[in-house]
Amino acid sequence: MAFPESFLQELKARNDITEIVSSYVSLKRRGRNMVGLCPFHSEKTPSFNIYTENGSFYCFGCGVGGDVISFIMKIENLDYVEAVKFLAQRAGMELPDSGYDDSMSKLRRRVFEANREAARFYYATLISPKGAKGLEYFRGRCLSDKTIRRFGLGFADDDWSSLCNHLKQKGFSENEIVAANLGVKRRNGNGIYDRFTNRVIFPIIDVRGNVIAFGGRIMTDEKPKYLNTSDTPVFKKSANLFSLNNAKSSGSRTLILCEGYMDVIAVNQAGFQNAVATLGTALTVEQALLMKRYADEVIICYDADEAGQKATARAIPILRNAGLDIRVLTVPNGKDPDEFIRSHGADGATAFKLLIDKSGNDIEYRLNKLKSKYNVELADGKVSFLKDASKVIATISSPIERDVYISKLSSELSVDKNAIVKQVNSIARRNGKEEYKKEITNIQKNLSRQTDKIDTEHHKKPRSSSAEESLVVFLINNPDYAKIISDAVSPDKFQNTLMRRYYTYVLDRINNGLDPLTNIAADFTSDEASYLYRIMSRSVKSASTESAMYEYINVINEESQKLSNKDIADMSSEQINDYLKKIRKNKQ
Ligand code: GTP
Ligand code: MN
Repeated sequence: MAFPESFLQELKARNDITEIVSSYVSLKRRGRNMVGLCPFHSEKTPSFNIYTENGSFYCFGCGVGGDVISFIMKIENLDYVEAVKFLAQRAGMELPDSGYDDSMSKLRRRVFEANREAARFYYATLISPKGAKGLEYFRGRCLSDKTIRRFGLGFADDDWSSLCNHLKQKGFSENEIVAANLGVKRRNGNGIYDRFTNRVIFPIIDVRGNVIAFGGRIMTDEKPKYLNTSDTPVFKKSANLFSLNNAKSSGSRTLILCEGYMDVIAVNQAGFQNAVATLGTALTVEQALLMKRYADEVIICYDADEAGQKATARAIPILRNAGLDIRVLTVPNGKDPDEFIRSHGADGATAFKLLIDKSGNDIEYRLNKLKSKYNVELADGKVSFLKDASKVIATISSPIERDVYISKLSSELSVDKNAIVKQVNSIARRNGKEEYKKEITNIQKNLSRQTDKIDTEHHKKPRSSSAEESLVVFLINNPDYAKIISDAVSPDKFQNTLMRRYYTYVLDRINNGLDPLTNIAADFTSDEASYLYRIMSRSVKSASTESAMYEYINVINEESQKLSNKDIADMSSEQINDYLKKIRKNKQ
């Protein structure tokens, strides 16, 4: 059961794609289109295009494309129905009664509800006699009641079935509980048991206030120390951050990136709401792009141990590529932020504020790290340090910023400034060339399309596939030609399976008096829908004339008669003769 066509059309008309996208991405006009930095991959030059005339977007960098609904699906991490609801609410439209609710949406909704119920249950357990051990643990870590409530912290007792029983009583099915990863199927197939037992619980809440997952810490030295919800229909560990909900409402455009739950909570309790943490994995590009939506600057605040320093070095380029400014906070004496704040007792907040104010940017951090590696008092050490330092400075794109560090180095080491400038420039040029080469290789790969993952057949039959592609695009842009086209080319003439599916779909929609693309996000996978927008944005004006259309039709018909080498190998000579005769007749 789909949403009515007229509803979707109004929805799209009332949610202008430029307006929607510009609340996430800063856009500039370029010709008839708008462009900006793609929110779905890291890039330095804008390749994310908005086509106002047909309400679509397409990124030439990562190949994501679609309409306003698919944009919201991707950026808000919603499924189709949720994205439609989101846009309807935004435009003040009521959802039609017959409201579409496919089984996946329904399951996601139930998982959210189960999570919310579980969070309530864990919190209630924590403050009940059964939760005494958990409460004692949190108090031992200096958390106030206010902090515990604010984060909705909880406790899972050691009964192995408390939560499952509670959820069943509230009407959740075993399937739903397992899908939420709150319960786990018994190996013998007989029922389910609680995923978290005898652990203190940290709910993970997204920016819309949904409880999406949980982390649970054991209260002893046993392993694993932390257990997280596995990926579920509403949760992907690598694409979420702990406490982003609090950070978002802090109103600050700076985020403090910590390693763990307890660090974030301690930093919060000290008065800084803008702390977040990854969920037990190294920082991902997705998380960096998520941060970029709410912040301009990130202060990395990882543990002072070797692992933390390695993680810092890894995080810097990821954050930089996402367009974030970076500072690095160093916690003294090998402590993590939580231990540091606690060790200062009542002065924890002030002491931490000092660390923030002292934190330098990522370039300073990297230069300091390098400097400590060499003995710059000796000529050898100085030369090696300068070489490495120049590499770091060469990664800065702003010439003014570069000049600042070069001047600083030159006076610190008493080395001629011009010598450093020369060194940095030559490295930067080399880097530039390498990047250029990489780009060219990418373009070549794209052109040959050997690596196309969605349209896997294109490179096998490029001539027919290109014509089929162009005809599909022509048809979408010129629905009034549908009859001429469908009379001339039946779908079975298409040799490329994906193009044949687009063709059949679009023709069918037009024949039923519908806009060809309004429902595309529901009827194709998101990769397939993106792909269609990709070929549409690739097509050029000259490909859109009537004579071009006849050319595509000819090519498709001609190619459909050609037989593959394998077919020919299997033919008798009589069959081959017939075939040749047929081709000759067509050519006349
Ligand atoms: P506390 O010991 O409670 O202060 O935690 P911590 O944050 O200091 O721990 P640590 O520095 O060891 O780990 C940082 C983060 O990595 C934690 O907050 C977890 O998200 C994650 N982590 C740590 N241990 C485990 C583990 O055993 N399993 C998983 N999945 N994640 C872990
Ligand atoms: Mn810790």
